[in-house]
Amino acid sequence: MARVWLDNVGRQFNSTLAVAEISFEVPDGEFWVLVGPSGCGKSTILRMIAGLESITTGQIYIGDRLVNQVSARDRDVAMVFQNYALYPHMTVAENLAFGLKMRKAEPSTLRNRVQQVAQMLDLTHLLQRKPRQLSGGQQQRVALGRAIARQPQVFLLDEPLSNLDAQLRDDTRAQLKQLHSQVGVTTLYVTHDQTEAMTLADQVVVLFQGKIQQIGPPQQIYQFPANRMVATFLGSPPANLLRATCTANGLRLGSAMVPYPTHLHGLKATHLEQTIDLGLRPEHVQVLSPDRPGHLSAAIAVVEPLGRETLIRATLTEMPEQSLNLVTAVSMPFQAGDRLSLNVVLSQLMAFDATTGAALLPHSCNGLG
Ligand SMILES: Nc1ncnc2c1ncn2[C@@H]1O[C@H](COP(=O)(O)OP(=O)(O)OP(=O)(O)O)[C@@H](O)[C@H]1O
Ligand SMILES: [Mg+2]
Repeated sequence: MARVWLDNVGRQFNSTLAVAEISFEVPDGEFWVLVGPSGCGKSTILRMIAGLESITTGQIYIGDRLVNQVSARDRDVAMVFQNYALYPHMTVAENLAFGLKMRKAEPSTLRNRVQQVAQMLDLTHLLQRKPRQLSGGQQQRVALGRAIARQPQVFLLDEPLSNLDAQLRDDTRAQLKQLHSQVGVTTLYVTHDQTEAMTLADQVVVLFQGKIQQIGPPQQIYQFPANRMVATFLGSPPANLLRATCTANGLRLGSAMVPYPTHLHGLKATHLEQTIDLGLRPEHVQVLSPDRPGHLSAAIAVVEPLGRETLIRATLTEMPEQSLNLVTAVSMPFQAGDRLSLNVVLSQLMAFDATTGAALLPHSCNGLG
């Protein structure tokens, strides 16, 4: 096991800056998740750590070793690719053993390791099959197993669950987490799925357009996003953004006026008569029956029952161009067209600079990587 340290690492493809100069250090044994929308540079970062992609700037260390000039096969990392490939002519058992065999492991060690990994990933009954005789999910587990069997210093996993159906994805995600607590190998895991990021990570690195937006424990970045992009990327449904003007009397939202919550009082001095973006998570809006005085009101556009709760897309009456994601209990039988009153939990409001998107105090007082 080993730490992984990226020091100002960047990658330019002709005119595309895939990864700006980024720095972070994953301590030995931790599970870090790189998350961000498609094209933000996640796979490029993993491939640079694996030695499969050259770097334009910076240094990469694995343990205390500078690996810039070290070939991929000598870096002692195991990578599971977004489009993993198994050896089609080998059985599952042979696929699992392949990496170890290349490293000239003892036959008894090899057998034990294959058995152990097969058991972990529920592949024991499939060991003699060829990849073409497996479902997509089973193949994906073999690809994971092959990486695990090698016992590398570092795991690099690029969307390793993307080919699984929803149920299997949830199960395998939990298995992965358990596995990590058992084997404790330093892991970098790439996904664009915010649920995977939240559930798996010791630390999440949020990326956008090749730049680090924020690094922190999942709960911290959820509660205190460094900027608008992070706020709207994490959470399902995502945080609502509402254009507001800071006035002497409160925050003006269209024709409505909302009092400043204590933590945003300072905006009255710093942003008077300026426009800002408020961030409001769906779980921080209580949905009430209509026409409650002193509350915002909304009209329902779409109702989406999820079983445990119901999602509602609504438009704010006081600001008709403003749409809102809301969550309600299933016991509330709303329909499209219904009107609502909204009770906003003001103490949970987030505020962002309308131009840069940066969080305004006090939500900005967290660690930007
Ligand atoms: N070999 C290449 N040549 C030119 N541009 C590339 C190359 N590889 C990646 N890019 C560009 O670099 C950027 C980052 O790509 P990367 O594959 O790292 O994104 P990603 O975050 O993994 O996306 P996804 O979630 O879709 O897998 C993209 O704009 C991509 O088009
Ligand atoms: Mg990718």
